[in-house]
Amino acid sequence: MIDDLEILEHEEPSMSKPSSYTTPKWWKEAVIYQIYPSSFQDTNDDGWGDVKGITSRVDYLKQLGIDVVWTSPIYKSPQADMGYDIANYKVIDPIYGSNEDVDNLISELKKRDMKLMMDLVVNHTSNEHDWFLESRSSKTNPKRNWYIWKPPKSVSEAGVPEPPTNWAQILGEANSAWTYDTETGEYYLSVFTPEQPDLNWENPEVREAVWDVMKFWLDRGVAGFRMDVINMISKDPSYPDAPVILDPKSHQYQPGTQFFVNGPKLHDYLREMHDQVLSKYDTITVGEMPGVSDENEILRTVGANAQELNMIFIFDIVDIDKPNIRMALKPWDVKEMKSIITRWQRCMIDRDGWNSVFIENHDNPRSISRYADDSDAFRDKSAKLLALMQTTLGGTLFVYQGEEIGIRNAPTEWDVDVEYKDIETINYWKKCKKIYKDDPKQLEHGRKIIQMKARDHARTPMQWNAKDNAGFCRPGVKPWMRVMDDFKQGINAEAQMDGGDEKELSTWQFWQRGIHDRKEHADVFVYGDYQEISPEDPDILAYGRTSKSGERWLVVLNFSGKDVEWTLPESLRVEFWACSTYVKGRPEKPQKGTIPLKPWEGILAKCKIE
Ligand code: GLC
Ligand code: CA
Repeated sequence: MIDDLEILEHEEPSMSKPSSYTTPKWWKEAVIYQIYPSSFQDTNDDGWGDVKGITSRVDYLKQLGIDVVWTSPIYKSPQADMGYDIANYKVIDPIYGSNEDVDNLISELKKRDMKLMMDLVVNHTSNEHDWFLESRSSKTNPKRNWYIWKPPKSVSEAGVPEPPTNWAQILGEANSAWTYDTETGEYYLSVFTPEQPDLNWENPEVREAVWDVMKFWLDRGVAGFRMDVINMISKDPSYPDAPVILDPKSHQYQPGTQFFVNGPKLHDYLREMHDQVLSKYDTITVGEMPGVSDENEILRTVGANAQELNMIFIFDIVDIDKPNIRMALKPWDVKEMKSIITRWQRCMIDRDGWNSVFIENHDNPRSISRYADDSDAFRDKSAKLLALMQTTLGGTLFVYQGEEIGIRNAPTEWDVDVEYKDIETINYWKKCKKIYKDDPKQLEHGRKIIQMKARDHARTPMQWNAKDNAGFCRPGVKPWMRVMDDFKQGINAEAQMDGGDEKELSTWQFWQRGIHDRKEHADVFVYGDYQEISPEDPDILAYGRTSKSGERWLVVLNFSGKDVEWTLPESLRVEFWACSTYVKGRPEKPQKGTIPLKPWEGILAKCKIE
């Protein structure tokens, strides 16, 4: 193991290299809040969140310290995958409102010096998009080649066609990634669900059409895009079969992601997007890039001179409990979490890239349920621990709706068949019931995976106050998805904004404090160097953050449910402890030697090097 001292002293060389890591940019310092629009705020009593609802909450977001609002897709969509299946890129779905509502949202944000970021879902469209309707209409239609059509691999004597490859669809992992079209006798590629046909990016007309959509929204005043599975737009042109890794008796199709994640032309397409569109505007861009962890590859996109995207979402932390398919579980520990954090913090500093900081989004369960302890006794401590971690790491910070009040996973008692709405969960549960109908143990395991991993946990309605329906929609209106029952027990924004008690900040106030401190000390927390401390400790995640001018802060996070003692590195002297997740104001802790930490306690100190 490397000695703490050595680690603490090695930062200067990396920071003295010519690097634009510390060059200030608005999109590096901005704090982004992701809204899941159907579940944020309903204003017209249909039980579905809407754009006017977002506008009605901009003061709330401002007060929290948010600069940029990113909303998951609100475009016209049949909602097979909650708007990630777009039928018209230039029209807002009436269930959310109108284009004018978005103009109004942009202008209300602007008044408060805030910005709007939209979701750009262009790996695929809805199967109800006009482009696709034309494409499927005949083999000779001019838009045929806008999607990926292939003849069957074979057709049996009985006339049953076989898909061109053995790839499984991603959302549900049971069916083929190819959908057969009886009219024209060919398959189209639809890696997520049959309702989401993949666009053919090889076709320059498709790329032009995407640039046109981007300009349409940028010209309307949108500040940038979160780009949905943008690393899947280039497919392996040889379309090979995937290796068999799932039991072929129960799984006819196999994960084929390696053949469409970071494919051969990805960087050509992203650079073209940059030249054609992004270079002409002052944008914020973040690419959703699951399934890639290779530093060289990632730096091709987010390196300072890459001319592709500002940053991406790297999934190593949210995939920490995932083997190679999403609906699965794998044990993990704090050491693994630390090494992931350290790896990416150092990579971006040392190699001049930029990254995002996030642990929740609409595709993942709630962070306190996953990484800490969501019991009544510790949920609030856990939420603050994770807030302290995220507000003190380098990169652009993303907060997910409800994370700021510590919303947790839906309770185990919820009936999957009744309360769960996500197409992935529904498909997965269907598959479990089919495959494991005679194996109650396995079926129980499937239910456990849903409890731990289902996307539905992130999609329950926002908890605003203690009124019926938690203020998400009016009392008496039926919300599209069940509201959690715990909004009356303090898990709501109103209670937490006024609240906490004399001795402690509420989770919301703790987030607000953290965001404020992060901005006040952006040279440390956004742009500073990072030093890992005690990487071998099984419970404690500790790191230093240091500004260019040598201002040093120390973060110590107890990722265990027990009291622990942690010894400060000899070389560090605490000037003062600035905050703890347990007390309001400055905690009293020893300034050197051994520091006691309560279960799930996190502390922050201003330090000096001796
Ligand atoms: C992304 C989205 C997810 C969606 C998928 C297909 O991963 O975040 O919600 O299901 O892409 O668009
Ligand atoms: Ca509504």
